[in-house]
Amino acid sequence: MPDLTALGPDFVWGSATSAYQIEGAIDVDGRLPSIWDTFCDQPGAIDNGDSGEVACDSYHRWPEDIALLKQLGVDAYRFSVAWPRVIPAGSGAVNAAGLDYYDRLVDGLLAEGIKPFLTLYHWDLPQALQNLGGWASRDTAYRFAEYATVVGERLGDRVHDWVTLNEPLCSAWIGHWEGRMAPGITDPATAVRASYHLLLAHGLGVQALRAAVPDASVGLVVNLSPVEPASESAEDVRAAQLADGHINRWWLDPVNGRGFPADMVGQYGVELPERPGDADIIAAPTDFVGLNYYFRQIVKADETVPVLGFSQVDGPNSERTMLDWEVHPAGLEELLLRLTKEYGAEKIYVTENGSAWVDAPDETFFVTDEPRARYLEQHIAACARAVEQGAPLAGYFAWSLLDNFEWAYGYAPRFGLAYVDYPTGTRVMKTSGLRYASLIEAHRA
Ligand code: FCB
Repeated sequence: MPDLTALGPDFVWGSATSAYQIEGAIDVDGRLPSIWDTFCDQPGAIDNGDSGEVACDSYHRWPEDIALLKQLGVDAYRFSVAWPRVIPAGSGAVNAAGLDYYDRLVDGLLAEGIKPFLTLYHWDLPQALQNLGGWASRDTAYRFAEYATVVGERLGDRVHDWVTLNEPLCSAWIGHWEGRMAPGITDPATAVRASYHLLLAHGLGVQALRAAVPDASVGLVVNLSPVEPASESAEDVRAAQLADGHINRWWLDPVNGRGFPADMVGQYGVELPERPGDADIIAAPTDFVGLNYYFRQIVKADETVPVLGFSQVDGPNSERTMLDWEVHPAGLEELLLRLTKEYGAEKIYVTENGSAWVDAPDETFFVTDEPRARYLEQHIAACARAVEQGAPLAGYFAWSLLDNFEWAYGYAPRFGLAYVDYPTGTRVMKTSGLRYASLIEAHRA
């Protein structure tokens, strides 16, 4: 058990999920398709032809999810609201039945003393908005602000903690540049425009929430990676600077009032769709930074990669998860300290951190998952070390509460603290979940 004395008595312990990954019920109670429903229909887009059609059926089984949270003993639950449930066509008519679902969920959490941490956008854009250009269109940012207002007005009397967007990097770079996620576009110029409009949406969303929920605590969730050059050669060092720009600075600089990094604007060679006043909107003051951490990136110069000119090489640590992600807890400590020292962060939550392993359930669906439990302890220990060195870390959310639809990888990678038997929907806490529960209990004591 790591030494957690550095984490103060108010430290928030939590676990996280997202709507499309767990809810299922994609055509129930007025929900219309999102870009992920469409993407899942494309042959070959998702491993094994999987989709979020049923997922964990949390739309119906959410009381069981709350029971799992109780079993963990967490203070908070980070979940996301599905925009296509609430405003199914992306703009215009509000769907009461969709909002009611989140109303029930929030009340259910509060009844058990669990704080809702609500993410407005975890990648499930209404398909109707994609048909109008999606994130490549400036209008989408304004539609997002309207959606934020609707959810804020309905739930803001009970929800204090709000996230605008989850990981805009994935929406923009993976969804529009690499095409491995919805909407599956492979055009760097479109991706750069999408990244810009996503950050604009974040800023407009902050404004909308401040108006609808006066005492709201609002933040953006970014996925960051420490970047290291593969060698000391000038080419690799330059590659690492670019990779850091692409992965980290592109998101952190503008929201911290520093504008988009000039070296990257030059590298992308794309004119930003800037209008007067945008920079201030994007840099709207927030209450915390949400950090999702999974791996570091070691990069080398690579002329074969268009626009960017770098590619990733394997890290040296031998322990790797089933997705071949290098286990490197020190990277989390490093990022927390960077946010503190370089960006002056005053409050940080680790909003996601976790690992996928090949689980072997017994006949009762119980999983003994030592690697996941060890991963959790090592990363929480890294958090404690960062706090000892001054990082204002206020909480940690384990990804994920339960096994779920892991995007383009389908259901094979399991990140859950609880096992899900997909054919029956049965949930059973794993060893890692039990370990997390005792760690939380020990820290409280
Ligand atoms: C993050 C996503 C989350 C989950 C984890 C494994 O990038 O935010 O939904 O897929 O990775």
